[in-house]
Amino acid sequence: TKKGIHMDTYFDANILTGTGLLAPDVNHKKIRAFLQEQIKPVRELMAYYQCAMMEVETKFKVLSQELSLEYDRNPIETIKTRLKSMDSITDKLLDRGFSLTLENIEQQLNDVAGVRVICGLPSDIYELADAFLRQDDVRLIMKKDYIATPKENGYRSLHLIVEIPIFLHDEKKMMKVEVQLRTISMDWWASLEHKIRYKKDIVVEESVANELRTCAETAAALDMRMEQLQKYISAKAMAE
Ligand code: GTP
Ligand code: MG
Repeated sequence: TKKGIHMDTYFDANILTGTGLLAPDVNHKKIRAFLQEQIKPVRELMAYYQCAMMEVETKFKVLSQELSLEYDRNPIETIKTRLKSMDSITDKLLDRGFSLTLENIEQQLNDVAGVRVICGLPSDIYELADAFLRQDDVRLIMKKDYIATPKENGYRSLHLIVEIPIFLHDEKKMMKVEVQLRTISMDWWASLEHKIRYKKDIVVEESVANELRTCAETAAALDMRMEQLQKYISAKAMAE
């Protein structure tokens, strides 16, 4: 590959130095320079994802600020960002039968950069998502509405895979970011479900799965009631 990084070479060299097959005093500087050279493109790519993530976070903060002035309440409770670890990137690519190259990271993975936007009410989610997607530097790649169509297990959230440009000194680079929008209750549910699912030693019984699904439905119903209440209150405030 022209642009591809050569992880193989990197790891070979690493193993050699680690086992002392290459005496550190001999080519110490050369080896370090060699390793730096190999790692640099990966570091760079991760920095670009970091920038794209910050860009998306800022866009939501700006929207939140604007909407909160308009409605006198904050549509966003919290925003969380996370960069996928190199270990998880490696696992995901290899599990799917791809080799570890820069091209594959960019082309095969949608969730290296992740932004989670936690909202007060379901309507905030759609309002924010629409305003975000209307911006002309945001390109929608994929939308999954697990609120309109929840997953079998009860999972709810609105997922967007977008591409946004980051401006480097001599080029504009499009980077993918995964955005998950959910209410506080959807987030609460998802974190519990995640904990249960990743306790792999415990077999999730049918009854537990059913209870989880019921909890998700109850939470969704509560979200709707809160939303109605909020609408009623603001209509009343407007009338006064
Ligand atoms: P990956 O799971 O990222 O490989 O992609 P996918 O094609 O399955 O995408 P999807 O949009 O369904 O899920 C992406 C992310 O949403 C996951 O990595 C989780 O963070 C979250 N997610 C999806 N489904 C569930 C779920 O059932 N429970 C929980 N807790 N989180 C979920
Ligand atoms: Mg994922």
